[in-house]
Amino acid sequence: MAKSIVIITGASSGMGREFAMQLDAHLRKTDEIWLIARRKERLKEVAAKMRNNVRIISMDITKESQMERLTDMLSDHECVIKMLINCAGYGILGDFANLTVEEQTGMVRTNCEALTHITHTCIPFMRKNSRIINLASSASFIPQPGFAVYAATKSYVNSFSLALGQELKDKGIYVTSVCPGPVDTEFFEIAEGGGHGVLAIKKYVMADAFSVVKKALRDSCNKKAQSVYSIPMISFQVLCKAVPHGILLPIIRGFKK
Ligand SMILES: NC(=O)c1ccc[n+]([C@@H]2O[C@H](COP(=O)([O-])OP(=O)(O)OC[C@H]3O[C@@H](n4cnc5c(N)ncnc54)[C@H](OP(=O)(O)O)[C@@H]3O)[C@@H](O)[C@H]2O)c1
Repeated sequence: MAKSIVIITGASSGMGREFAMQLDAHLRKTDEIWLIARRKERLKEVAAKMRNNVRIISMDITKESQMERLTDMLSDHECVIKMLINCAGYGILGDFANLTVEEQTGMVRTNCEALTHITHTCIPFMRKNSRIINLASSASFIPQPGFAVYAATKSYVNSFSLALGQELKDKGIYVTSVCPGPVDTEFFEIAEGGGHGVLAIKKYVMADAFSVVKKALRDSCNKKAQSVYSIPMISFQVLCKAVPHGILLPIIRGFKK
């Protein structure tokens, strides 16, 4: 018999973990919640706090062979995906030339290529009223000197999600691009951990994962194409649309030094 499932990537921490906890508290008619990330022990800790049936899939989403395993699992269980939440991703602060090429291309592989791959894999298993939630960022609103590749990857996610949403609307599949500002998660351990830069503004606008995820789920439920949490980030988005980027970019540069 077909199995109705929810898939969450990046479920071992931060917003992915928060999506798992909030959905677990509200979902009724889902057979399984699939949690994906590399750190198995962390996934087990998340699963132990959940009451729904959980499947732990410890995998690196950038590895082709492991993605094939996921495709096989979806086919073997005749899955119907009610919701795909693409949270896995990371960013490293620092001027482009100061980071290694592996650090830069790794962000592109994880945030763009793997997200695209997993979305393409999952769509054939979706039905009317299925949902896709993609974690973009407010960094997608404008180019970010000092965070150039990360911001570009998130512009990709946002642009891809908005276009995909239009393509899938007639099938009754709804896509929401989530664009938070700084959120208090492990994200900054990696982003600032290399010592190449800090996001000075974060202490003024840091949001908590619970509120960002709660709004994202509500917006997805309401079929909204984009979810932007908090007045400062909504204002930032308006500013980025209204003011020429030539004026804003030097100011943004100042925040990343
Ligand atoms: N925190 C923020 O300020 C912020 C703001 C805007 C957008 N975002 C975006 O929101 C998403 C979630 O970030 P977060 O704040 O929750 O950060 P986080 O706590 O660091 O979580 C990132 C998750 O991605 C997983 N991951 C990373 N690379 C992976 C890979 N190759 N294969 C499988 N899983 C992988 C990590 O798990 P493992 O290490 O166990 O694999 C972890 O569960 C990211 O896409 C991030 O870019 C974050």
